[in-house]
Amino acid sequence: MKADTIGTNFLKDKSTRVAIFASGAGSNAQKIIDYFAGDDKINISLIVCNKPNACVLKIAAFHNIPVVLLEKELFFKGDACVRTLKENNIHLVVLAGFLWKIPFPLIAAYPNKIINIHPALLPKYGGKGMYGHHVHQAVIANGEKESGITIHYVNEHFDEGEQIFQATCPVMPDDTPETLADRIHQLEHAHFAPIIASIVM
Ligand code: GRF
Repeated sequence: MKADTIGTNFLKDKSTRVAIFASGAGSNAQKIIDYFAGDDKINISLIVCNKPNACVLKIAAFHNIPVVLLEKELFFKGDACVRTLKENNIHLVVLAGFLWKIPFPLIAAYPNKIINIHPALLPKYGGKGMYGHHVHQAVIANGEKESGITIHYVNEHFDEGEQIFQATCPVMPDDTPETLADRIHQLEHAHFAPIIASIVM
């Protein structure tokens, strides 16, 4: 084996390979990809998606990041997803707009190595059905003065894993779910990637 090959392998072994699970617009995925572009410690290695027409797939293609498209039955039965992640040497799973519940075999294979971002201040406004505009609608309907984001580890219950980080923003009297969603997205874009970096270092 040539010396430069050894050097390359060494560097590859040292980097944390991240799979982003996303099935929506992918604005968080985009921010994370940009943040770690050229980073030698964290490598965004895979995009995992369950919607064949999701915008995040265009982002993956633009950045030459391999994609895995999930089939529901295979995802929820057996260990196909775990095998795919292991084959791709994935160390950390980041959920960024992924709505399917993570099955237990995946949680067991990646203990404290799966994190999620939620667009509210958990434990409020979490759980099944609490995603996207449903969250912001409920926050506004309840007259909350404050909302925010929660980044947390993923366990077998929706939005209940140990919290890593929260940031807050005001809810304005004239907010609609859309204006509040924009403010929350800004928080997500500012904090998600640095928090990923902080838990890996
Ligand atoms: C984010 O608001 C995140 O909190 C939630 O899903 C949304 C994904 O947005 N889990 P995007 O696809 O990253 O724009």
